[in-house]
Amino acid sequence: MKILGISGSLRQGSWNSALLRMAGGVLAAGHEMTVAEIGDLPLINTDLELEGRFPAPVERLRAEILAADALLLATPEYNASIPAPLKNAIDWASRPSNTLAGKPVMIMGASPGVLGTARAQYPLRQTLGVLNVQLMGQPEVFIAGAGQKFTDGQLTDAPTREFVSAALATFMTFAARVKIGE
Ligand SMILES: Cc1cc2nc3c(=O)[nH]c(=O)nc-3n(C[C@H](O)[C@H](O)[C@H](O)COP(=O)(O)O)c2cc1C
Repeated sequence: MKILGISGSLRQGSWNSALLRMAGGVLAAGHEMTVAEIGDLPLINTDLELEGRFPAPVERLRAEILAADALLLATPEYNASIPAPLKNAIDWASRPSNTLAGKPVMIMGASPGVLGTARAQYPLRQTLGVLNVQLMGQPEVFIAGAGQKFTDGQLTDAPTREFVSAALATFMTFAARVKIGE
């Protein structure tokens, strides 16, 4: 299974990017993850679509999504919603033809507060729902109190690592079922 990881944070020391790296490191044999670059995407502007072509970074992201069997999103919460870099990437990916349609998707998120990015993940679920992705319902991965769970750019909290690993294993089964049903 080829998994494309997308972090909603562009920050060097991002907890959410660290979460993705951790997930990539515990995938079972036969699965591999690459992480998409979204920091160089222009802000969504359909004037930039010329003769059916998107700007080069957008074409790259769209091709990566099309080539992926499944998507793993790790998102921060910005002002109680989806961070702009992630929403921008999704908006570009959704332009006709919608590259996200039918893709199995799992969402995770880490934040310092008690809600663990829930207020970002629910609007994200709403957006992905209208884009016809195959969104895994459960388990939901809300990592609260991230300041105590990450050390030196790594997810170090053992129970959280176990929970994320188990959620990923469930997602791999979910994604394989979607693939068989295609
Ligand atoms: C513009 C902005 C808005 C934020 N709003 C929230 C918020 O609503 N809820 C929250 O828990 N954290 C909020 N934060 C703090 C982030 O959770 C924190 O910066 C976290 O480290 C972001 O994830 P990252 O480590 O992956 O970059 C906000 C941060 C920024 C930059």
